[in-house]
Amino acid sequence: MSVLSGKNVLLGVTAGIAAYKTAHLVRLFIKAGAKVQVIMTPASKDFVTPLTLSTLSKNPVHSTFYNKDEENELWNNHVDLGLWADLFVVAPATANTLSKMANGTCDNLLLATYLSAKSKVYFAPAMDLDMYKHPSTKNTLEKLQSFGNVMIPAESGELASGLVGEGRMAEPTTIVSFIEQDILSSLPLHGKKVLITAGPTYEAIDPVRFIGNHSSGKMGFELAKCAANLGAHVILVTGPTNERVQHALIKVVDVVSAQDMYDATHTYYNEVDIAIAAAAVADYKPSKIEDQKIKKKSDAMSLEMVKTKDILASMGAMKKQQFLVGFALETMNEIENAIGKLERKNLDLIVLNSLQDKGAGFKNATNKITIIDASKEQIGFALKSKAEVAVDIFNEIIKRIHA
Ligand code: CTP
Repeated sequence: MSVLSGKNVLLGVTAGIAAYKTAHLVRLFIKAGAKVQVIMTPASKDFVTPLTLSTLSKNPVHSTFYNKDEENELWNNHVDLGLWADLFVVAPATANTLSKMANGTCDNLLLATYLSAKSKVYFAPAMDLDMYKHPSTKNTLEKLQSFGNVMIPAESGELASGLVGEGRMAEPTTIVSFIEQDILSSLPLHGKKVLITAGPTYEAIDPVRFIGNHSSGKMGFELAKCAANLGAHVILVTGPTNERVQHALIKVVDVVSAQDMYDATHTYYNEVDIAIAAAAVADYKPSKIEDQKIKKKSDAMSLEMVKTKDILASMGAMKKQQFLVGFALETMNEIENAIGKLERKNLDLIVLNSLQDKGAGFKNATNKITIIDASKEQIGFALKSKAEVAVDIFNEIIKRIHA
């Protein structure tokens, strides 16, 4: 999944021959899952038709301050367009438009929107080689970048004039991957590796029976999605669950028993920056797995159980660079017990859910948590969806790893 998925992309098209390539560019944004609106300068319509771009973007194209042809002339609100955009991409950006952007000129809808946009602005210059090399253009490009705008550099090649040199607009595929990379590299967990355990474990009794629990795995999966959306590479070690996730940055490792989860977790632990144990690991397992199905005989039966390995405690004992987070599900003396776990297992944060809170815990779609850090600071949160809880947890982690 592209980082552009769900993003609002405002594409500004100006009057250069490369405008014909914006049809492809709009398609690529749409294919990446973005929503697209297009603003054209009046002169750019000589190079590509508004009908092409409105059809491909699935939205009307904007180019004037109001729509003359309509019965009730409607004002095109440039402030609204600017606010709608998560990113504003001016491509192709001609020397003329770039100079106006650098100097605050505002004589068309695109420029008015640029001046009022709050989002990040990317621009892809497109012009002839001598124009591109001219000191006044260089000055313009530097000035625009000094305002925080991001330049997608022009490429070298054959130009519309027939000359060969620098000035060609970057290819649409390059523009899209440039923006994707730029977004990824500005995310707070870019370059970080995160290990998450999720779901229940099943402890076999015989070939057909097991001891398990009601953990849905939802909390761990939401944590994984949240980490990936923040730019991290995620290893999600999960017990049996109905939850599914498809994300380029998430590697799912399926396990069944506590021992499997222990082994998988320890395979990856050394290389990660953050580890979160959200799994409901069985504390005990049958001392022996019967080879054959146990037949019913007497009225009562008992199973001998032995302790499983505590995965989180083991990660705490081995801890080096890792920021380690555990969960605690308590029914009494919650804070005291959670702090006890935090200290015993050598954690940096513990997420406490109390079973006394309605809607919190295991099977629910919601959770109500208190986070306690190594300095015993306690932060309480309201009842929220597990996706929102995941965001709260990562906010607290990021504050501490970047401190
Ligand atoms: N955990 C784990 N491996 C285990 C048991 C627990 O990694 N074998 C992790 C859980 O994923 C959770 C935390 O430890 O993050 C707390 O688990 P919990 O079972 O509540 O705590 P315990 O220390 O086992 O204490 P108790 O059962 O007495 O409450």
